[in-house]
Amino acid sequence: MILKKNILKTAIIGFGHIGKIHFENISQNESLKLVALVDTNDIVVEDNSVSIFSTISECHTNFPDIDLYIIASPNGLHYDQAKEILDLSKNVLVEKPITLYKDQTEKLINLAKKNNVRLFTSLQLRFSDLINHVKNLIEKNFLGEIFLIRVECFWNRNNAYYENSLWRGTKSLDGGVLFTQFSHFIDVLHYLLGKLELITNLATNFTHKKVIEFNDSGIIEFKSDKTLGNMFYTISTFEKNFDSSITLIAEKGTIKIGGQYMDQLVFHNVADFPAENIALNKESLHTLMYTEIVQSLKNSKPSRIDAENAINTIDFIEKAIKLEKNV
Ligand SMILES: NC(=O)c1ccc[n+]([C@@H]2O[C@H](COP(=O)([O-])OP(=O)(O)OC[C@H]3O[C@@H](n4cnc5c(N)ncnc54)[C@H](O)[C@@H]3O)[C@@H](O)[C@H]2O)c1
Repeated sequence: MILKKNILKTAIIGFGHIGKIHFENISQNESLKLVALVDTNDIVVEDNSVSIFSTISECHTNFPDIDLYIIASPNGLHYDQAKEILDLSKNVLVEKPITLYKDQTEKLINLAKKNNVRLFTSLQLRFSDLINHVKNLIEKNFLGEIFLIRVECFWNRNNAYYENSLWRGTKSLDGGVLFTQFSHFIDVLHYLLGKLELITNLATNFTHKKVIEFNDSGIIEFKSDKTLGNMFYTISTFEKNFDSSITLIAEKGTIKIGGQYMDQLVFHNVADFPAENIALNKESLHTLMYTEIVQSLKNSKPSRIDAENAINTIDFIEKAIKLEKNV
């Protein structure tokens, strides 16, 4: 489907922390107009031109011409809400994780195809210049064989974070730290290496036994072709977030990207690519993501955040949870 309109009408479902970031980004994009917000809570917005509803069907009755819905509600609601919107033959961007199960993701993809609409998911690290630099090095064979990859996700989520939320910490609506906190980093691994083979997931709950229905920490081992990898993850880091990093040890180079959101180049030693040659862009990941969505809708172009690109990550996390070896 090609949308031959200058301005695409949008609505956001779920106006919490990330819903507000979508709101700001849509306001700044001249090809998008936000017409409605849907939330089950009482919400307030200064902009009087935006209508507020408590259900998707009410929103659709009042605005049958919305071009793109954005789902920013709790994880466990994504499947039913996306299905409802796709059944209306509307395009939809679903926050990560698109669903908590591979088979649900596949059902949504099939429904979108059947109704000739687009299904995107917010994998915004795919727009990071540093991650794309590494992807480019891999694709152009600058690194040679990649021997080892290590991901470290050392975050802090305290008890209040869970106690103040109805959905966080529950198996059914949150789904676990690999889905809610660390799925972007698992997506980065799949973006760089393709499908990964999961080997083990040693997991435990160090500091959140009373507040969450799943483990808070673990060590995953995986492989991809000859590359061996592991991922250390925790939300029990003392007092505050520490770091999220990815390190590649390859035949012709060593690279480490770190920072809280994998946004800083920590180390770069690549045989034929000096670090000074890396082009850094100044726009935010969400700005770049919305630019690509608009282009995809207006020109019927594939996108790196098409839902198909999320299947391997959802499958990997679903298996990691099933395979969890409690220690
Ligand atoms: N892409 C990212 O980097 C990123 C960052 C944060 C959160 N997220 C994802 O965004 C989603 C929301 O996270 P959040 O941190 O904004 O949570 P939040 O709790 O701050 O907001 C959720 C909102 O959804 C509303 N809601 C609940 N049930 C609803 C329903 N049935 N219909 C409509 N609205 C409903 C709540 O009232 C609340 O306003 C989650 O899936 C999360 O994983 C993604």
